[in-house]
Amino acid sequence: MSKASVLLGIETSCDDTAAAVLIDGSLMSNVVSSQPQHIEFGGVVPEVASRAHEKLLVSVVDDALKQAGIGKNELTGIAVTKGPGLIGSLMVGVSFAKAAALGLGVPFIGVNHLEGHLASLFLSNPPPPFPHLCLIVSGGHTQLMQIDAPGQFKVLGKTRDDAAGEAFDKVGKILGLDYPAGPQIDRLAIAGNRSFHPFPRTRLKGYDYSFSGIKTSVLYYLNSFDEMHREELIRNSLADICASFQEAVVDMLISPIKKAIKDTGIRHVGLVGGVSANLRLRTKMLELLKQNKGQLYVPEMAYCMDNAAMIAMAGYFRLKNGEQSDLSEIANPSLKLL
Ligand code: KG4
Ligand code: ZN
Repeated sequence: MSKASVLLGIETSCDDTAAAVLIDGSLMSNVVSSQPQHIEFGGVVPEVASRAHEKLLVSVVDDALKQAGIGKNELTGIAVTKGPGLIGSLMVGVSFAKAAALGLGVPFIGVNHLEGHLASLFLSNPPPPFPHLCLIVSGGHTQLMQIDAPGQFKVLGKTRDDAAGEAFDKVGKILGLDYPAGPQIDRLAIAGNRSFHPFPRTRLKGYDYSFSGIKTSVLYYLNSFDEMHREELIRNSLADICASFQEAVVDMLISPIKKAIKDTGIRHVGLVGGVSANLRLRTKMLELLKQNKGQLYVPEMAYCMDNAAMIAMAGYFRLKNGEQSDLSEIANPSLKLL
């Protein structure tokens, strides 16, 4: 019998310090420590993030090992996010993973954060069959992919400016909400009128996205009122503004997916990344796939946000394919998927 695969996954690309243990592809623990230090700044402060990772990482890894009931000497590999992300934050995770892999004499696997998000679909049951389409939609990325096999994919389209999550966060800031605003807008929108204001939908040719226009149109809309009326509008109609803004973003996200289903004939579609937690997006995607006799795959909420379980899963696929990284590999903040 071949030796069990016991992988430690580490994720420190932005402001979540995370570690997870995956044994033979089954998740045994998943620990995420978020950093509330950034809330008062309305966004992630890179220097603060890397210092916090340094402080937190050892105890987060210890917790993940403890919860999985394994000792570090039982590990057979260490997978870590090598990019894209904040350079200082990535370096903390990559340096730790390389040192630990060298010390333990096990393979080190540098994983692309986006490949991690794609692998998050395999943490829930049932996983999607190949080929499938997958929309990666987070605070840093919005891209539509076709996945033909683990590690084999092509980018069909991506955002030309802001990511969808970034639009949620920036509009939230304009509306006086805390960072990250996506989950709050999602919650507020439940009670709001989706037709309250017709924010324009930007549709590009092909499968590309653009979200900078919607952010500006929310700003112009609010600035069309004087200060007193603007404050009154936000006080009285916050849920309606959130619902109609969110509806526009969701429509823009779905339109290229509709086209891709038609063009490729692939009807298995995944949604991954922080914004995949959005209830309205999930509902409208379910409707779309019902119409197309297809199936939607979304990770459980815990695996939508940045986490290390997905990094361990992507590392597991790579190792199974006979791949591992060289210890000379370094963090790359602008690492591309292809
Ligand atoms: O994947 P993630 O945790 O980190 C990045 O790689 O960016 O995604 C975080 C992003 C933030 O922009 C946050 O506002 C957004 O995901 N987000 C949401 C929701 N939950 C998180 N956006 C809309 N609706 C949600 N329920
Ligand atoms: Zn992410």
